[in-house]
Amino acid sequence: MSSEAPLGVFDSGVGGLSVLAEVRRELPGEDVLYLADTAHLPYGERSDGDVRELTARAVAALRARGAKAVVVACNTASAFGLAHVRAAHPDLPILGLVPAVKPAVQATRSGVVGVLATPGTLRGTLLSDVIREWAGPAGVQVLKALSTELVPLVEAGQAQGARTRAVLREVLTPLADAGADQLVLGCTHYPFLAPAIRAEFGGTFGLLDSGAAVARHTRRVLERAGLLAARPQAGQVRYFVTGDPQRAAPVMAALLAPEGQSGQNGRGHP
Ligand code: SIN
Repeated sequence: MSSEAPLGVFDSGVGGLSVLAEVRRELPGEDVLYLADTAHLPYGERSDGDVRELTARAVAALRARGAKAVVVACNTASAFGLAHVRAAHPDLPILGLVPAVKPAVQATRSGVVGVLATPGTLRGTLLSDVIREWAGPAGVQVLKALSTELVPLVEAGQAQGARTRAVLREVLTPLADAGADQLVLGCTHYPFLAPAIRAEFGGTFGLLDSGAAVARHTRRVLERAGLLAARPQAGQVRYFVTGDPQRAAPVMAALLAPEGQSGQNGRGHP
């Protein structure tokens, strides 16, 4: 595998763009193939087996297109699909997301932290494992909140809309009332909700996600494998969606705009 080959980044939809932004900051010289499986989202409401199968298809598609490594930029896919794709591709570095419970536990002053995630991520053992590892020994209470509406709202370009703010008020008020002072954003779509959360709750919560951590980890893994791109100029990003590109393109463009990123849109698995 050549170090000049692209890095694959995959999510059910536009949420992984929050991780892509961190990957581009950490690894500006890398070419990236971004795959949004919009034909099958939301993953958070699918069965464990479905998520495993879709994750396997996405990783295989990115590999077929020449990806030298894949970042699974979706918490639900990381919870259910990671072990399987790693077993199927033992020679391909595959990185996944771990909910940011550790930094939340380290930052809390109240001893109460919240986790906002999809039903899939809340059901998976990955989250309970990190809670047991970090919150348990520190005596920190972890409160969970879920919504099935937030991912579709972000996908619809409504990250700051009135309905989104109403849902956030409904699901996060119990956490604020219980004294949570840190909020783990346990889905890659949720960093795009940060302005709405701040508008509704001010500085009540510190907001934590895993994008920067997985980007740093990706750099370390590529370095160790001798796969870091050596090119001096900025890498290119190519975008692929499995669903309707006319629907996805404006939302993706709007979410990418603040980062000043650019790329091409394609349709179908790369
Ligand atoms: C979803 O498709 O439900 C969101 C996936 C995730 O990041 O958990």
